[in-house]
Amino acid sequence: MVAFGKSTEKMDKARIRRINDVFQLEYFTDNKAFHKNFDGDNVIQQIRKLILTSFKECIIYTNEYDIVIFRNKNNDLIKRRHKPTKSVVNTTHDKQKNHLINDGREAMFLFDLGICDKDGVVTDKGNKKFIQINRFIQLFDHAFSKISFNNEKIRVVDFCCGKGYLTFSLYHYLQNIKNIQTKITGIDLKSDVINDLNRISKKYNMTDLDFISGDIKTYDDSLDVAVGLHACDVATDIFLSSAVRNQAKLIISVPCCQHQLFRQINNKDLKPMLAYGLQKDRFTEMLTNTLRVLALRAKGYSVDIVEFTSIEHTMKNVLIRAIFTGILDKEAESEYKKLKVMFSITDFEGDSI
Ligand SMILES: C[S@@+](CC[C@H](N)C(=O)[O-])C[C@H]1O[C@@H](n2cnc3c(N)ncnc32)[C@H](O)[C@@H]1O
Repeated sequence: MVAFGKSTEKMDKARIRRINDVFQLEYFTDNKAFHKNFDGDNVIQQIRKLILTSFKECIIYTNEYDIVIFRNKNNDLIKRRHKPTKSVVNTTHDKQKNHLINDGREAMFLFDLGICDKDGVVTDKGNKKFIQINRFIQLFDHAFSKISFNNEKIRVVDFCCGKGYLTFSLYHYLQNIKNIQTKITGIDLKSDVINDLNRISKKYNMTDLDFISGDIKTYDDSLDVAVGLHACDVATDIFLSSAVRNQAKLIISVPCCQHQLFRQINNKDLKPMLAYGLQKDRFTEMLTNTLRVLALRAKGYSVDIVEFTSIEHTMKNVLIRAIFTGILDKEAESEYKKLKVMFSITDFEGDSI
């Protein structure tokens, strides 16, 4: 990590960090963060440029030395070595752990969202969400890379974004790490949370990330990708239906709790299996997700279901991934209808998909 000090002009502070295969300059002006990526060949050139134009000195932290570089009155660059003061994070190691988003030392918005402490280290409390976000992005990326998008800016909507952990992380991943032009919107009912998320996005100068407070039922705008992590109960069905109605090319959903079918299902042949609450709950979850998948296939999506994270990170660990093909699956439509009859289901929000 390289930190710059003694600013001489508009930049308040700056640092250069390695993020996977690229180096990223992050600098702050008027309390807003700006990012610029470049490859390893240009790091020294960038450091020279910043010391000669915007700062008087920088410290390069390594595990062996702190290397201080400063400019003297003649504008010559002087280098001094000192004992190390920081232990440097090995991001290659983090990558091996499949962390596409590294911790707050690379993504300080995670501090504002309560996932990291002020030093950028993921807290015990934030760890489960941190793992979920990374896994979601890993599974997202796998499908995302298969799709060709025509738009200059890819439009992503996070339905029921809650505190915005996924929304911010996806933005950071696509925009800052992958350098893909993206416009991301998070929607949730909680207006106070939404106001705060808009404040944080401004603070980090995430100009194409915004948050809207409202009911996802009313969402009607074009989008390319629709994501929803743990949208509670029927909110998952409402989200899937909004995504299909607005012609999403890719939909990724990790459903949450479900109650609607639990109250209704009835099948005399399966009575012994459904006699115990726990079993009935698990069965209903599987049935609900099966109906969602069939509805998506009937609307022209190719769908797969994968394990989201292991159950120690969340019990709600089924991820549905749907890619639009335009091929309407008639068989899926008839299986959907049959299952509803078989379990005496009359009221299912998934019908709106
Ligand atoms: C369990 S939280 C998940 C939040 C976030 N996606 C996450 O994983 O951290 C579910 C969120 O769905 C929101 N929600 C439920 N129904 C909604 C609706 N109809 N429209 C918008 N938001 C809704 C709630 O306000 C809540 O923030």
